[in-house]
Amino acid sequence: RSFSSQPQSGQKRRSSFGIAFDIDGVILRGKDPIGGSPQALRRLYGDSGNLNVPFLFLTNGGGIPESRRASELSELLGVKILPSQVLQGHSPFKSFMERYENQLIVATGKGEPAVVMSEYGFKKVVSLDEYASCFENIDPLAQYKKWTTKQGLDRSSHPLNTVPRYDVSSETVKAVFVVSDPVDWGRDIQILCDVLRCGGLPGQENGHQPQPPLYFAADDLEYQAAFPSKRLGMGAFRIALESVFNRIHYNPLEYVCFGKPNPFVFKNAEAMLKQLQPSYYSDIFKEPGDSGLPSFKTLYMIGDNPSVDVKGAQQAGHPWFSILTRTGVFRGKHNHAEFPADLVIDTVEEAVDYILGREC
Ligand code: G3P
Ligand code: MG
Repeated sequence: RSFSSQPQSGQKRRSSFGIAFDIDGVILRGKDPIGGSPQALRRLYGDSGNLNVPFLFLTNGGGIPESRRASELSELLGVKILPSQVLQGHSPFKSFMERYENQLIVATGKGEPAVVMSEYGFKKVVSLDEYASCFENIDPLAQYKKWTTKQGLDRSSHPLNTVPRYDVSSETVKAVFVVSDPVDWGRDIQILCDVLRCGGLPGQENGHQPQPPLYFAADDLEYQAAFPSKRLGMGAFRIALESVFNRIHYNPLEYVCFGKPNPFVFKNAEAMLKQLQPSYYSDIFKEPGDSGLPSFKTLYMIGDNPSVDVKGAQQAGHPWFSILTRTGVFRGKHNHAEFPADLVIDTVEEAVDYILGREC
């Protein structure tokens, strides 16, 4: 079916809609496109290559700046994705910039967590790799880690390397950000316990120090990667850290998790989708007296994880409509019992087909 959402003259006001795509288990498995995702996305563009339907990626993954993820996705999927169409688990960390702009913060996870935070504007961010290197013997198992590489230790060539390479071991860490899935769980649990139970100064146990704030980019227990069965995600790491911390410290671990299903993330996605609406929506569909961009009648969340994607869309309420695919975490024949989606369908391509059929 050919699709055009260009309004015709005399046509009634058409409901506006947008789409948020989960990535892992819906669009990609590892680096491979799945479920007809390139074809599905192509249908959202007009013949001239302009975006006909506002859409973005709403993923709990991350570890590289949104601009770089947009280029990677464009390459893998064969359509031009803008940085403003990529919302990652750590994207809400931007909102903490004013609070911690010039304060020492630690960032951990796969990829380049400190570069991600530097791009958001944080001036004094160190990766846990760099931070660990300032403390002799902080990881007693380091000598056995034959796989340890220099990767992530040297940001000196990055234009946003604003952190002076000086010893931060005597400076209080003001907050910890788990930006992406931690690579070395053992070391990270050890050092985060040190930082968090010593008021931000490892090795200095002097009385009761308040725990520095701890922020996770997501809380997925499991997710679908390239391996056939589900993999442990950031939520599994959080449970491991919390279990150990609560056994060795008098106060339970305090933390905040972003990513789906946090309603903040869906509000943010809605605001971003409004910015992506083709201009004729705002010019033609605006009611007399309307200021700003028109609201959506329906926003579709296409995900593979009932307790993350579907639960998030349900909690966010109107105008969200959840679609669950069978290409990732969820493989059930019928709907999920605890978090039933508005629609269960095999693939993302079928989901887009359904949406366009319903809307146009
Ligand atoms: O690490 C990524 C994983 O937590 C989920 O990604 O795209 O399924 O939200 P996504
Ligand atoms: Mg997913």
